[in-house]
Amino acid sequence: MDAFEAIKTRKTIRDFDGRKVDDAVRDRIIEAGMAAPSNDHMRKWEFVVVDDRAARLRIIRSIASDITGEAARKRMEESGLTDDDQREMYIDAIPKQRSMLLDAGLLIVPCYYEPGKLLTPSDLSSLNYFASIWCSIENMLIEASSENVYGVTRIPSERDRVAMRSELRIPDEYEIPCVLALGYPEADARRTKQKAFSVADRIHTDRW
Ligand SMILES: Cc1cc2nc3c(=O)[nH]c(=O)nc-3n(C[C@H](O)[C@H](O)[C@H](O)COP(=O)(O)O)c2cc1C
Repeated sequence: MDAFEAIKTRKTIRDFDGRKVDDAVRDRIIEAGMAAPSNDHMRKWEFVVVDDRAARLRIIRSIASDITGEAARKRMEESGLTDDDQREMYIDAIPKQRSMLLDAGLLIVPCYYEPGKLLTPSDLSSLNYFASIWCSIENMLIEASSENVYGVTRIPSERDRVAMRSELRIPDEYEIPCVLALGYPEADARRTKQKAFSVADRIHTDRW
């Protein structure tokens, strides 16, 4: 699969068939992550693979386990969001926040060295370390899609982020940008429709 095809094939998947992703595939995905550009050239990124179900349960405690599709639909009605595709995405996604992390065939907690204060940046360049790890995460998603492995990034709640730090023994100087759940899609896994766009309409030559 060439790079463009892998990029276009990547779609968020939250319904996994439970199969484990084997170690060789896992290693290629992480190698792709490690090939991303990094602001300071150092790529101080580490990847904690969480296989143990009990450990997974301990780091997702704040995610409610009983949110139904109906409750998600109600939440959307109260949200004020009006775009149908966006609402459908949330209605599908909200009830799956817990199961997608538990059922993932490969659960990765990417960690990156953060010398500053992630949540109180002083200027754009103080976000460079955070920006770089997201380049790495996207590389992993693209490499995964070329291996027929798909998934989703979940931004943990503050409570779960704290739990992850201690459960996974993450050093203080490292931050967690997200949890990356990957795996093989279930036969009828939902792929949310991406918003349609015209490339020509998005390009502004010389001025917007
Ligand atoms: C920074 C970021 C944070 C996201 N956080 C979540 C999340 O917490 N839970 C979730 O289910 N999906 C999350 N997503 C996935 C988006 O919902 C998804 O990428 C979007 O709906 C577009 O769909 P697509 O990836 O299939 O194109 C996140 C994506 C990004 C880039």
